[in-house]
Amino acid sequence: MFTISSLPSLQGKIFLVTGGNTGIGYTTCLNLAAKGAKVFMGARSSSKASSAIANIKELHPKADIRTLIMDNNSLTTIVEAAKQFSAQESKLHGLILNAGVMAVPYELTPDGFENQMQINYVAHWLLTYHLLPVLLSTAKLEGPGSVRVVSVSSDGHQKSSFGVTKILYDAAEVRECGDFKRYGLSKFANVLHADSLHSQYGPGSESSRQGKGEIWTASLHPGFIDTQLNEKTRDSVSWKLSWMHRVLKMFGVMRPWDEGCVSNLFVGASPEFTAAMSGKYFNEKAGLKEPNPGTKEVEEQTRLEKWTSEAMQKGGWI
Ligand SMILES: NC(=O)c1ccc[n+]([C@@H]2O[C@H](COP(=O)([O-])OP(=O)(O)OC[C@H]3O[C@@H](n4cnc5c(N)ncnc54)[C@H](OP(=O)(O)O)[C@@H]3O)[C@@H](O)[C@H]2O)c1
Repeated sequence: MFTISSLPSLQGKIFLVTGGNTGIGYTTCLNLAAKGAKVFMGARSSSKASSAIANIKELHPKADIRTLIMDNNSLTTIVEAAKQFSAQESKLHGLILNAGVMAVPYELTPDGFENQMQINYVAHWLLTYHLLPVLLSTAKLEGPGSVRVVSVSSDGHQKSSFGVTKILYDAAEVRECGDFKRYGLSKFANVLHADSLHSQYGPGSESSRQGKGEIWTASLHPGFIDTQLNEKTRDSVSWKLSWMHRVLKMFGVMRPWDEGCVSNLFVGASPEFTAAMSGKYFNEKAGLKEPNPGTKEVEEQTRLEKWTSEAMQKGGWI
């Protein structure tokens, strides 16, 4: 079974982790940097990122870690962050698409998308799109398995959680379906995104066969983890949820905040992750898990990919 301590040295490797200033993203940054990788911490607040980096440097004084400002609520900042990264670095070995919000009330972002869908999925699609040249050139130079994209989803995308079976494209239906189901929809989109990247750039893809670069990718559930995400949700939803979480913590069902990065590190950086695992869905212990069967429908994957790229073109973000 994969353990964080089994990760080899990551000297010479470059990673970008979105939502890196706290929770699962923070521990992902910390462990990558501890193994010698150069880490870009994606964050929307430079002061939060600076204090997170200071904490990491206290533990690992040699950590090579820096901030990349991006706010998933503003797509222009995502394009800008990708440009800044590409101007500084000629390689990227691991892109960990982790930033997220859960069950926040319905709003349209200034860019015109439902907020959870934009923060959790659309912004990550756009970031990946603009980083593809550097991801592919790294993969071409260093070979299959050298470059990974991790799409942090959630078991909230499963039908058994909030009843999601497919992406909803009707704006009224999205508005009315409830905050938790909208979270599930955005996380369903994260799985579809990984699948789509796998078909386009994974093992056996045209990109790989034509020598244009092979990228390994997977989506995952990081676990039921005691982070700011659950804290904010229980504060906003009800005292009942708050009590339920206390009980779940007491019985070890909700895991401590520093245990949520295992699968991010496995998919993103472990030599134990193989070509055959690309395009799959993982649980919190780096084990394979069945995703929502709806995510395996090619029509769903193609439709979301087309919808996203058309929307990004229309808004001038690509
Ligand atoms: N915790 C769980 O039980 C659990 C379960 C399943 C899946 N997940 C997934 O795991 C990922 C990480 O969650 P977590 O539990 O570590 O949550 P967290 O502690 O709340 O951290 C979320 C990170 O995303 C950032 N973020 C939020 N909105 C953003 C925005 N508009 N632009 C840029 N960054 C933004 C946050 O930045 P700020 O600090 O500035 O808010 C923070 O760095 C999420 O994708 C979540 O859906 C978590």
